[in-house]
Amino acid sequence: MSFRIAPSILSADFARLGEEVKNVIAAGSDWIHFDVMDNHYVPNLTFGPMICQAVKPHARTAAGVAVPIDVHLMISPVDALAALFAEAGADYISFHPDASGHVHRSIQAIKSKGVKAGLVFNPAEPLDVLDWVIDDIDLVLIMSVNPGFGGQSFIDSALRKIEDVRKRITACGKDIRLEVDGGIKVDNIRRVADAGADTFVAGSAIFGKPDYKGVIDAMRGALAA
Ligand code: DX5
Ligand code: ZN
Repeated sequence: MSFRIAPSILSADFARLGEEVKNVIAAGSDWIHFDVMDNHYVPNLTFGPMICQAVKPHARTAAGVAVPIDVHLMISPVDALAALFAEAGADYISFHPDASGHVHRSIQAIKSKGVKAGLVFNPAEPLDVLDWVIDDIDLVLIMSVNPGFGGQSFIDSALRKIEDVRKRITACGKDIRLEVDGGIKVDNIRRVADAGADTFVAGSAIFGKPDYKGVIDAMRGALAA
């Protein structure tokens, strides 16, 4: 399994965002996770497409290889802003099905812009919509905290849900990423991978320490062990 580590810049220093993105990429990030909150779907407010566009030129390795921007929309409605994020350079755009009036239409709106589409499931949200749209998406994101804030504790029932999603992905046979978001640390990442996740968001675990590379290396070490 090829694992991806996606640091969430929600926990970065916003006054030095470009530099933080560069530093965390130099430390070995595979993706940059971009948490968009609207003070409506979730009780917090972060950043919009203009910030994504400003970050985009910094999302490269020192050798110039582009690092995907993984936009996690915690907003309602979805479609109009998703289009703006596509234009702002997002590589993946994921949304919460309960935040969209028309899930299939929102997926198509994202894909019509040439961007990969993902669906996000809150801790108490069932996976039922996957029965109908799994063939249309590129990513499933399982929330292991309630969305809105960094630094919360991992909710264990997410493990069962990840196992369920992994079975559905295997059954459908398509190349779909299975990402997990919330409370991921060096000491639980392996458990989450064993449940079937292949892509790991981590905010406070990485940006809360001075040595980003030390944390990312330790996460990779735990995954390889
Ligand atoms: C929560 C966000 C997460 C958050 C994860 O709404 O979607 O991406 O930044 O933060 P940590 O890793 O600190 O739990
Ligand atoms: Zn997120």
